[in-house]
Amino acid sequence: MNSVPQPAAIRYHQLNNLTASQIAAIRSIPGHDQAEVVPIQATRPASMFLDQDYYQREQKKVFRRLPLAITVSAMLIEPGSLLAHDDYGLPLLVVRGRDGKVRVLLNDGEHKLATQAGVARGEAFEALEKVQHLLLELPSKEAGGLIWAILNPNAKPDFSHLNDEVLADLDALELGQQYLYGHKTFEVASNWKQINEPFLEGYHVQRLHANSVGPLFADVPTVVTQMGDHIRQTSGKIEFAPGGLENERNIHKVITHAYMVFPNTVVITSPYYMSLMIIIPTAVGESRVNYHMLTLNPADNPKSQALYQTSYETVLGVFGNEDFKAAEWCQKGLQSGALDDIGKVYSGLECAIPMQYDTLDKYLAANDSASA
Ligand SMILES: [Fe+2]
Repeated sequence: MNSVPQPAAIRYHQLNNLTASQIAAIRSIPGHDQAEVVPIQATRPASMFLDQDYYQREQKKVFRRLPLAITVSAMLIEPGSLLAHDDYGLPLLVVRGRDGKVRVLLNDGEHKLATQAGVARGEAFEALEKVQHLLLELPSKEAGGLIWAILNPNAKPDFSHLNDEVLADLDALELGQQYLYGHKTFEVASNWKQINEPFLEGYHVQRLHANSVGPLFADVPTVVTQMGDHIRQTSGKIEFAPGGLENERNIHKVITHAYMVFPNTVVITSPYYMSLMIIIPTAVGESRVNYHMLTLNPADNPKSQALYQTSYETVLGVFGNEDFKAAEWCQKGLQSGALDDIGKVYSGLECAIPMQYDTLDKYLAANDSASA
């Protein structure tokens, strides 16, 4: 008797799939009526979003020194796939070899391989294999569902910045095993840090997103955990209650994880997908955001296809028309000089923003020999 193939069961993340650290953070979320804001008053000068010299120091001491996310593993699934990438201002070729290993090559000089942006296969890869040994390879690593590289051919391959704790979290979320539903690039007329800021706090959600996703979230502080240079926020959604979490079939229906992998990579969970954004400075007041929507289950039937398409359009609208537009307005405000005297002020609901800037300050203060 022939058996009819059954569709694979739909998978969700449950509390017990997560790391001990993630579980402890979730367990520490108070009920919404118990949430308390710890007051802080932190300020940062407007110049850090406007000043060309500051921008150059960030480029040198952060973006040419630390491992940076280049793209998601899901962009380069098959051996032999090839991605041309020049968003960071260096012409890169990201290649998954026939051995399955990813290499990041500097597509520079006389052996420059002509490729169109995007993923190529076949001929481009054949040509690359011939000249690969002539191209300079940058230190790179594939971990946590992302491809990371240090954009300095003279750098030691030191990836300790991506510590075990943050990688264990990303692995528990199975970022490396997810399906890429869609990706989109946004050009945003804002300093990169201004774009990062709303992903470091929940305070704006009820306000900026009042007419879209705001009602799904509670107006309470997030549980902020520093993991080396990185920041994890764990928060209860509107229907969150502290009891019975181990029985939730889909933990991301009641809680949200938001990661800022320093300096510029954002991971945010939603009930049926995850958002992964790489926020790339292209000039002091301009950035490129590479958005990716990842799903734990394939879009292999009309129902999931419809759910993911609706989600994709919603999330692109929320980020593109609300968060990124707000970043552009804020950047304009900064450029007007209105905040030159007082700087930007951060409250207790935004405490992770000054944390991120303390980390940035640490790298900007490092001496040149450490950043060579
Ligand atoms: Fe937002």
